[in-house]
Amino acid sequence: MDSGVVSVPSSFIRPPHLRPSLSDQISAHDYIEIPIIDLSELVSGIRPLPIIHNIGRACQEWGFFQVTNHGVPQEIVDGMRAACRNFFGQPAAERNRFRSQNFEAPVAYATSFNPHLEKARDWKDVFYVRDLPGKCNGFDEAPEICKKAFQAYREEVQKLANLIYRAIFESLGLSSDYLDKELTGIHRLIMAVNYYPPCPDPSLTFGLTGHSDISSLTVLLQDEVPGLQVRKGDKWIGVKPLANAFVINVADQIQILSNGIYKSVEHRVVTNMDKPRMSVACFFGPREEIKIAPLSKLVTESHPALYKEVVFGDYAKNFYSQELLADRATLQFAVRE
Ligand code: OGA
Ligand code: NI
Repeated sequence: MDSGVVSVPSSFIRPPHLRPSLSDQISAHDYIEIPIIDLSELVSGIRPLPIIHNIGRACQEWGFFQVTNHGVPQEIVDGMRAACRNFFGQPAAERNRFRSQNFEAPVAYATSFNPHLEKARDWKDVFYVRDLPGKCNGFDEAPEICKKAFQAYREEVQKLANLIYRAIFESLGLSSDYLDKELTGIHRLIMAVNYYPPCPDPSLTFGLTGHSDISSLTVLLQDEVPGLQVRKGDKWIGVKPLANAFVINVADQIQILSNGIYKSVEHRVVTNMDKPRMSVACFFGPREEIKIAPLSKLVTESHPALYKEVVFGDYAKNFYSQELLADRATLQFAVRE
């Protein structure tokens, strides 16, 4: 778009049967939308059963929910948005200094997900910042125009993620003692700042192809421009942009740990012709060397283990060696034969 294209270049055009189809999309209405959960009590240290229960139900039925009164200070979020605008507002030459397809680079700028392997690219640019324990911490290496805000945001969002991660497993009725011993934590973070430019023809391409997230838990900050859609059966439901909220979703490792009770649900982003859209996705996962398997308490004779034990680093490697796969196909890596 910087170079003035007025139509979608062929490298972004999908084959006709894989294009966004208007007939399977539903925008969010009051009667059908992902749950919205007020976290105020949880944030203040009370562990109220109704909230824990609602989180559990959302994880089971949708794999997605939005949270309000989440404890992340407004000025931190405002600072984050400004920092993202700072990064993407730079001339292309400045952004391009960070161009890299290395999935272990501390910071990297890229177009689409895995362009060398994709038949059609996605209509987005992304700036990654990675904290991979034992390998690198991109939050110390981000450019000065966004570094401080990124660090402050990370700190607050990590607290929120820890709180929700714990609540998700509490909602399965597991005791605190058990969780202290069995939960491996979410110490690895990949932050993706997504920038979706306006698109000359949204019927030809996606902002982001349908996929499930591979880590444990994703915390997403949207702006006011719609685009994110979540799969519900054979329909795609729009996620309504809500001021002062985060979108939370269960990712693959929670599906494995919960032995399939909680769902890592497919989602995608559609483009529009008028407005750029920005989002910040924080993918929280376990350290690479951690082995993930269904929690022993959730494996019974009537509900045997659906997944085998996988080393998270191997799971991630498999994901990055392919284009984005539809139908949650990345999870096949852990399915028991
Ligand atoms: C992702 C993602 C959604 C969005 O980056 O994995 O699903 O709204 N992003 O940008
Ligand atoms: Ni995603």
